[in-house]
Amino acid sequence: MSGRIPVIAGNWKMFKTNSEAGAYVAELLPLVADADSVEIIICPPFTSLAEVRRETEGSRVRVAAQNVHFEPEGAFTGEISLGMLREIGISDVILGHSERRQYFCENDADLARKVSAALGAGIRPILCVGESDQERESGRTGEKLGSQLRGGLASIDGGQLAGMIVAYEPIWAIGTGKTATPQIAQETISFIRGTLAQQFGAEAAASVRILYGGSVKPGNISELMTEPDIDGALVGGACLSATDFAQIVKFG
Ligand code: 13P
Repeated sequence: MSGRIPVIAGNWKMFKTNSEAGAYVAELLPLVADADSVEIIICPPFTSLAEVRRETEGSRVRVAAQNVHFEPEGAFTGEISLGMLREIGISDVILGHSERRQYFCENDADLARKVSAALGAGIRPILCVGESDQERESGRTGEKLGSQLRGGLASIDGGQLAGMIVAYEPIWAIGTGKTATPQIAQETISFIRGTLAQQFGAEAAASVRILYGGSVKPGNISELMTEPDIDGALVGGACLSATDFAQIVKFG
């Protein structure tokens, strides 16, 4: 046993209005009330964070944002600060999702600032890394993941690493229905843990939770969770249904 508590996180991406979010939470909470050995995180869009946080008060469900700016405040039109998230009780933030890297030009230097600012503000980062189809086919997966980890985690130490979450999300598996096999996910996450051990030491690397993300569904979660280095999942499409997400929380 690794001693690492499993985490199931649902990334809503740009889905659900505030009223839809409210209905979802009302449906989800009773379905996951007895799932007490798993950490559950839901990641709604900014517009429903406050509402979802209020509605999950007193439950075991944590609420995360999908992005944040690294500056405490300022003239950054369209951005949201860590202080704004903290004031409404947000505990976690997804950083460096491949969609943000691809469509919004987020780079590892920005992410290093975001990771350390979030840790400093007491908000736990969920740092996403992952390779493209071409990178995997041309044997450059390790190189890509290594540079994302070195870059995104450049400003933290081993103690801080242990308190955050890393998500391995191969780009070729996101929204494609093409889930990584449990063997590929395990092998790659074990490589990530090994890279973190070199960077931060064995103890920190053994403590950090590393999730798999990419076409996770009720039908494939249980086999993924049997792998020793996979500590949970970051779920996209399938988390939009409260019943599917609850099934995933219970590992299918
Ligand atoms: P899908 O589960 O829809 O493939 O998305 C995964 C993801 O990007 C979660 O952050």
